[in-house]
Amino acid sequence: MCHQGIERVQGLDRAGGKGYNRRARLGKVAMSSQPKPRILLTRDEIEATVNRLAAEIKKDYRGKSPILIGVLKGSFMFMADLVRLLDFPLEVEFIRLSSYGRGRESSGKIKVVQALRSEVKGRDVLIIEDIVDTGLTISFLLDYLRKKKPASLKLCALTDKPSRRQTPVTIDYLGFTVPNKFLIGYGLDWDEKFRNLPDICVLE
Ligand code: IMP
Ligand code: MG
Repeated sequence: MCHQGIERVQGLDRAGGKGYNRRARLGKVAMSSQPKPRILLTRDEIEATVNRLAAEIKKDYRGKSPILIGVLKGSFMFMADLVRLLDFPLEVEFIRLSSYGRGRESSGKIKVVQALRSEVKGRDVLIIEDIVDTGLTISFLLDYLRKKKPASLKLCALTDKPSRRQTPVTIDYLGFTVPNKFLIGYGLDWDEKFRNLPDICVLE
């Protein structure tokens, strides 16, 4: 009956915060062996940040008609919230890369598992990513797209975990810098679960 997320997340502790000390009633997902999610970034904070990013992007892309390429699956919610705030012509594309196995650790070997349908050559391309962690995935994607000769290529990432970086990455539009914790919610998963949480939580 209860959609995994909304009801349950309202009771979550806020990591490091005040006044959110009710323990989560996580129902089926809160078996004692399961890690506990705690809210790191609330839906309101996310909304404010997506608004800020949209304003920056609108300023830079006015008069252009870019292709926004979302990196599946993690960026789907961010993409959906972001594009509805953009009031200029644009195209929405998705690419799916394999980087992580089922779990928390990156395999480091990246490949395209669902390719683009649109022609990128000569277009203004903006990548929409959920999180830049080691940077290996996005570096691979930037190289992959650069070879297709876009007119411009930029990166918008909702979150950045710089402490984990293995290769340098320039993020043109950044939402939040986050601590070295495993995050779930607002598109981010742990083993394909928790993507539907409306807040970004830390899995402890
Ligand atoms: P990277 O190649 O290590 O930068 O990882 C990139 C991808 O790994 C992201 O696009 C996410 O899909 C996933 N990822 C990295 N960190 C997290 C996390 O904390 N939670 C969930 N997914 C993550
Ligand atoms: Mg991702």
